[in-house]
Amino acid sequence: MNIRFTINGREATVEALPDRRVVDLLREDLGLTGTKEGCGSGECGACMVLIDGEPRLSCLMLAAQLEDRAVTTIEGLANGDGLHPVQEAFVRCGAVQCGFCSPGMMLAASALLTQTPDPTRDQIREGLAGNLCRCTGYQKIVDAVETAARSTGRVADPGASLAPSRLLHLSGGGGVGSHEGKVAQGTEEDSLDAPVGVTFRTRGARATQVFLPEDLDALWSCMAEHPAARVFAGGTDLLVQMRARREDAPVLIGLERIVELQGVRETPSGLWIGAGNSHRRLLDDPRIRKDFPVLAQALRALGSPAIRNMGTIGGNLCSASPAGDALPPLYVLGAELELSTRSRRRTVPINTFITGPGKTVLRPGEILTGIRLNRPDGYEIHHYEKVGQRKALACAIASMAALLKISPTGEIEAARFAWGSVGPTVVTSAEVEATLIGERLSPAVLETATRLARQAMSPIDDLRASANYRRRVSGNLLLRLGIDLQKTFPSSGPFSQGSSPSS
Ligand SMILES: Cc1cc2nc3c(=O)[nH]c(=O)nc-3n(C[C@H](O)[C@H](O)[C@H](O)COP(=O)(O)OP(=O)(O)OC[C@H]3O[C@@H](n4cnc5c(N)ncnc54)[C@H](O)[C@@H]3O)c2cc1C
Ligand code: FES
Ligand code: FES
Repeated sequence: MNIRFTINGREATVEALPDRRVVDLLREDLGLTGTKEGCGSGECGACMVLIDGEPRLSCLMLAAQLEDRAVTTIEGLANGDGLHPVQEAFVRCGAVQCGFCSPGMMLAASALLTQTPDPTRDQIREGLAGNLCRCTGYQKIVDAVETAARSTGRVADPGASLAPSRLLHLSGGGGVGSHEGKVAQGTEEDSLDAPVGVTFRTRGARATQVFLPEDLDALWSCMAEHPAARVFAGGTDLLVQMRARREDAPVLIGLERIVELQGVRETPSGLWIGAGNSHRRLLDDPRIRKDFPVLAQALRALGSPAIRNMGTIGGNLCSASPAGDALPPLYVLGAELELSTRSRRRTVPINTFITGPGKTVLRPGEILTGIRLNRPDGYEIHHYEKVGQRKALACAIASMAALLKISPTGEIEAARFAWGSVGPTVVTSAEVEATLIGERLSPAVLETATRLARQAMSPIDDLRASANYRRRVSGNLLLRLGIDLQKTFPSSGPFSQGSSPSS
C-alpha cells in the first residue's frame, strides 16, 4: 500500500506492507539507521521516534499507522549542520559511549524539554524512564539533559525547522494499495510485490491486512466484512503477543483514529472516558487528576512515557491481564463499561467484565467503547501502590488500590480495596473492608485486616515472583498504607479531612 507521511519535515510516499514494522521501514527502506532496534518489544527505547512530536516506539508500530503522521527520527533532530542543543549537551557531558541508546535518549529528552523546558532531575529521570543505557550511566545523561535545558530558548521543537518538501517515493513494484471511503487498507497483492525486508509477521506470502477506520460506522462495516479480524488500539500488548507468536490474526483493525472512542465527557455524576484514550491523555486531564486521583496514580505507574503515549485504557481493560495497572483503581471506583456493536449497546460493571486472565465477556463483533465513572464523593484517601521488579516498565508483582472515607474522629466510615497480580483477575475482599469499617487504624485492626487480605489472595508462581511472595506483599501493601495513615493522622486523634498522604 502507499503510505503518505512526513519524515523529518519532508513529505514522503512509501509503498510498503501495511503490517511492516515502522522500525524496519525506517532502517531498511528509508536508510534512516539512526533508529536502533534493541529488544523489539517496547522495553528499551532504542527504536524511539517522535510521532507528531510525541515519543513512540517504532518496533510496536505498523507502517499503515504512519499515514498522515509527522515522524521525527534522530536524523531530523539536528538543525542542518548544527547539532540540536540536546545533542551538543550529550557530547559535552560525556553522555555517549557506544551510542546505541543515544538516538532514543536524545529524542525522549528533546520531547521532554519541549513539554517541560525547565525540568527537575526527577522529571528528567521520569522522562527517560523507558530508555535503557548499558554503558554510559544515567548520571551523565541526566546532567546532559539539565545542561540542554539551561541553554535557554535554544531547545527547538524537534523537526520544526524543516520546510515540508516532497522527498521520497519508494516503490516496491506492481501492488497498489487503496484508500476506500474512510478506511485505509492494504491489499494482498501488496505483500507479493512490496520491498524485500524483515516484516513484522507474514502468513505465507501474505501480509496481515491493516485497516484504520476513522469512525464507528466504518469500523462496523470493516468488522462485518472481516469477522476474523482482531482490533488493536495502541498495539502495545497485541503486537508484542503477535511478535512472540502467542496471538495470530489475518486482519488487524486499528481503533486509534476512531473519533467516537476519544475524549472525556462530563456526566451528571462523573465522567465518561472514551476507550481509545491513551494513558497520557488521561493523565493530562485535570478532571481525572482532581476527582479520580487513584486512577491518575495508577496510570503514572504504568509502563514508561512512550508506553503511556501509545497504550490505551481500553487496551488495558481488554487485555484482561491480572497485572493491568488501570484495573484495581477502576474496581474501587466501581467503573461501568460500555460495550457496543453496530446495533446494540450494553453496560456491564467492571467486576463482571473480566472472567479470567486474558478473558472478558466481550462477544464477537463487540468492542469496548467507553468507561463510566461516578465521582467517589467523600472518599478523601485515594491510594495506589505497585510493587514491581523495577520502577519503570515493570509489570506489577502485586498492586493495591484503595479508597477510604474517614470520620472527623478518626473512624473508617467506608473502605474499598482491590489488588492486582495476586489472582486470575483483580481480587477484592468484603471481609477486609468489613473489618476496617467503624475502626481506627490501631495495630491490632491492621494486623487482622492484613491477615484477611493475605487469605483472600490466590496468586501463582511465575518468572517474576513466587505465589508466597505475592501473598505476603499484597498484605504488606495494606499494612504500609495503614502505617502511613497512622503517621499522618495518629489514631488517637482525629483524622483531618480533605488530605491524602499518598495522592
Ligand atoms: C514494555 C511494556 C511495558 C508495559 N508495562 C505495563 C505496565 O506497567 N502496566 C500495565 O498495566 N500494562 C503494561 N503494559 C501492557 C500494555 O501497554 C497496556 O496494557 C496497555 O494499556 C494496552 O493498551 P493498548 O491500547 O496498547 O492495547 P492493544 O495492544 O491495542 O490491545 C490489547 C488487547 O485489547 C483488545 N482491545 C484493545 N482495545 C479494545 C477495545 N476498545 N475494545 C475491544 N477490544 C480492545 C485488543 O484486541 C487486544 O486483545 C506494557 C507493555 C509493554 C510493551
Ligand atoms: S527496540 Fe526496544 S523498545 Fe523498541
Ligand atoms: S551509550 Fe551505550 S547503551 Fe547507552
